Amino acid sequence: MANEAIGVIGAGAMGAGIAQTFAAAGFPVLMQDLKAEALARGRASIEASLARLVKRGKIAAEAAEATLGRIATSTDQQALADRALVVEAIVENIEIKSEVIRSLDAICGPETIFASNTSSISLTRLAAASERPERVIGMHFFNPVPVMNLVEIIRALQTSDAVCEEVTALTQAIGKTPRVSKDSYGFVVNRVLVPMINEAINCVYEGLASPEDVDEMMKLGANHPMGPLSLGDLIGLDIVLDIMETLYDGFDDPKYRPSPLLKQMVDAGYLGRKSGRGFFRYG
Ligand code: CAA
Repeated sequence: MANEAIGVIGAGAMGAGIAQTFAAAGFPVLMQDLKAEALARGRASIEASLARLVKRGKIAAEAAEATLGRIATSTDQQALADRALVVEAIVENIEIKSEVIRSLDAICGPETIFASNTSSISLTRLAAASERPERVIGMHFFNPVPVMNLVEIIRALQTSDAVCEEVTALTQAIGKTPRVSKDSYGFVVNRVLVPMINEAINCVYEGLASPEDVDEMMKLGANHPMGPLSLGDLIGLDIVLDIMETLYDGFDDPKYRPSPLLKQMVDAGYLGRKSGRGFFRYG
């Protein structure tokens, strides 16, 4: 890309991680969110993540400073006008995402690529909201973004070959590994991963073992870096439920039925790390 300016919409855990990753690779980033407090929290989480990398000797303090220096913030969507690529990482709601895509159509130049970090919404439906559907694509990052190597690239039915190639090259340029999936419910990773988490929740629901033991069994018996219930807490149990519902409704297959306990946890507001309590408690 001749113009390397990147826009990120949404300053939550994913948006902040994405902004950090592009900035660390040398790209100027504008992180936009409607709420100034969200931007302040996002910047603080980037600072904490960079401090962690410095402490572990992964990067120099100067590199952390330079990364932060490449991240500007704004509450104004118009500030994204000159961006070559805008990645949205906002709430998982198709109407709200489509609205953002429509307003970007009016704000950004005709060459701007719109990428969505959605974990389960159809890219083809999102692309249909744009007047430039061939320039809409999925860039699905994984949590914690600075650590996880994969970016799952999702081609909408409308995405052009050129845009797919550009985004694949860009993913490599930020030090991540791109893999392309066609647009389908849950794409590849979540279609495999999230039913596994749902099944772990069913094991607890049916009283087979405690959350601690289920997690320990999967760590020791399957070499998972963290147990499935801890992972559900990290992802957010509302997001896990959202993805299960997308798989269940989309494929119309009972094997994807969300666990009753998962639904109850979400009803109770026990969403995982972000609410301080999920299957485990967080200080
Ligand atoms: N920022 C920067 N670095 C971080 C970090 C962050 N937010 N979180 C962890 N790290 C780094 C640490 O510095 C450490 O680096 P080194 O080992 O190189 O020194 C490394 O990551 C491991 O961290 P810890 O030792 O603190 O903790 P850990 O060994 O328990 O690993 C983990 C933590 C990386 C999260 C690991 O448990 C893991 O890989 N878990 C699985 C995560 C996963 O599956 N994510 C995908 C979720 S699905 C998703 O996101 C998509 C979706 O749509 C739902």
